[in-house]
Amino acid sequence: MKVLVLGSGGREHAIAWKLSLSPSVSTVYVAPGNPGCPSVATCLPVTSTTPEAYLALARELGADLTVVGPEAPLVDGVVDFFQKNGLLIFGPTQAAAQLEGSKSFSKHFMQRAGIPTARFLDATTPQEAASALEQFAYPLVIKADGLAAGKGVVICPDKSTAQSTLDGMFSGALVGAAGSKVLIEEFLTGEEVSFIGLSDGDRVLPLEPSQDHKTIFDGDQGPNTGGMGAYSDSRILTADQRDFAMREVMDRTVQHMKKAGAPFQGFLYAGLMMTERGPMVLEFNVRLGDPETQALLHRMDCDFGALLFEAARGRVQPSLLNFKPDPSICVVLAAHGYPGTVRKGDVITGIAAAESTGASVFHAGTAMRDNQLVTNGGRVLGVTHSGPTLQAAIDNAYAACAHIHFDGMQIRHDIGAKGLKRW
Ligand code: AMP
Ligand code: GLY
Repeated sequence: MKVLVLGSGGREHAIAWKLSLSPSVSTVYVAPGNPGCPSVATCLPVTSTTPEAYLALARELGADLTVVGPEAPLVDGVVDFFQKNGLLIFGPTQAAAQLEGSKSFSKHFMQRAGIPTARFLDATTPQEAASALEQFAYPLVIKADGLAAGKGVVICPDKSTAQSTLDGMFSGALVGAAGSKVLIEEFLTGEEVSFIGLSDGDRVLPLEPSQDHKTIFDGDQGPNTGGMGAYSDSRILTADQRDFAMREVMDRTVQHMKKAGAPFQGFLYAGLMMTERGPMVLEFNVRLGDPETQALLHRMDCDFGALLFEAARGRVQPSLLNFKPDPSICVVLAAHGYPGTVRKGDVITGIAAAESTGASVFHAGTAMRDNQLVTNGGRVLGVTHSGPTLQAAIDNAYAACAHIHFDGMQIRHDIGAKGLKRW
C-alpha cells in the first residue's frame, strides 16, 4: 500500500521511518517532509495547506491511506474532506479535533463525561474573567481557548500576573485571536505523563507511556519549549495507574465522543498530571506528541502501516500493536537562541557517525544549503535510541549525541533521568 504522511517535523520523520519498515507498506510519501525524510520516503512540496490541496495530492499519488501528523490540518477539517470524497485517512474529524482545538470545548466535555481534570471557569470578557479570578487561589493557570502553538498557557503566581495575562489575552497581544476566550484553572501539582491511545472511533488501544521534558534547561528550569526530549518506559505508570487512565480517560472519552455524534478516530494524547488525588487530564491533543513519537516508534514492534490502515477502517485489533520491552529515549538538539529568536544556517555534522551507533536521528528544523545540512528551526534533531534498561537507553542516546555538532547547539543532559527512580 502507498501511504501519504502530512507534516514536516521530527514526529513526521519518525512516522515515515516506521512506515517504511512496515511489511504492508510499499511506498511512503511525505508532504512536505524535511531533509531527513528522503532516505525513507519521497518528499513532496506543499504549496497550499488546505484540505482541498491535500486531497488533490493524495488522489494524484493514488495514496491508499493518509496519516496526519500535526493538529492544524485536523482542526481545519482535512479528515472530513477526505472522508466525504471517499479517501481513507487516519485522524479525527473537525468536530472530534475540538478536543485540542478548543480548550473550552475540551474542559466542558471532560466535565460532562466525568473525566478527572482541574476545576475551571471560562470567560469571554475581561469582566467575566475578573469575577472568575475571585473563585481561585494562587497560583492559578490562565489558558487561551484556541490553538496557540504552545504559548497559550500561563501559570500565574499572583493577581498582578493574572491581570496582565488577561490583558494580553483579550487585547490579542499574547496569542492573537486564540486568546479571545480564556480559561482560568486550578493549579495542579505532580509528575506529568504523556499517555496516548490509538482509537478507531469505538475501541482504543494504549501506546506505552512516555514523558516529555518541556523546559529548555536541565532540572526543568527556564522557559517552556515544544519539548527538549522524551523517553518511553512501561514503568512510568503502575498497572493500576494504567488501568485507571484507560478506563477513566481513554475509554470514557471515546465512548462519550461516539455518543455525542463525533466519534474520535486517531491518536488521542492525554497530558496527565499524576496528582495526590490520582491522574488528572491537563489537556488533550488529537495527534501524536513530538518528541514522544520518536521514542515511542523506536520501541514499536509491529506493522505500523497495517495498524493505522485497520484503525482508519474502524477495525483496530490489540494483536496488531506491540512494543519491545526496552525503554527508549529521544534527546532533542536545539538551535542557538531557542525557544526565543532562533539562529539559522549553522552547519550540522556527525549524523552518520551518530547513526552508526544504532541511533535513529530524526530531523526537524534542518535545511540543505549549498549541499550542506544546516540548522533551520528551533528543534533541529531528535537523537533516539533504546537499551535493555533505562540507564542503558540514556547512555546509548547521549553517546550518539556526542558525535553531532553545530554552533550554538543546546542539549539537556537529564532526559530520562526522572525515570531512573523506578528501576
Ligand atoms: P497544556 O498546553 O494545557 O498542556 O499546558 C502546558 C503546560 O502547562 C503543561 O504541560 C503543564 O506543565 C502546565 N499546566 C497546564 N495546566 C496546568 C494546571 N492546571 N496545573 C498545573 N500546570 C498546568
Ligand atoms: N510533546 C508535547 C506535544 O506534542 O504536545
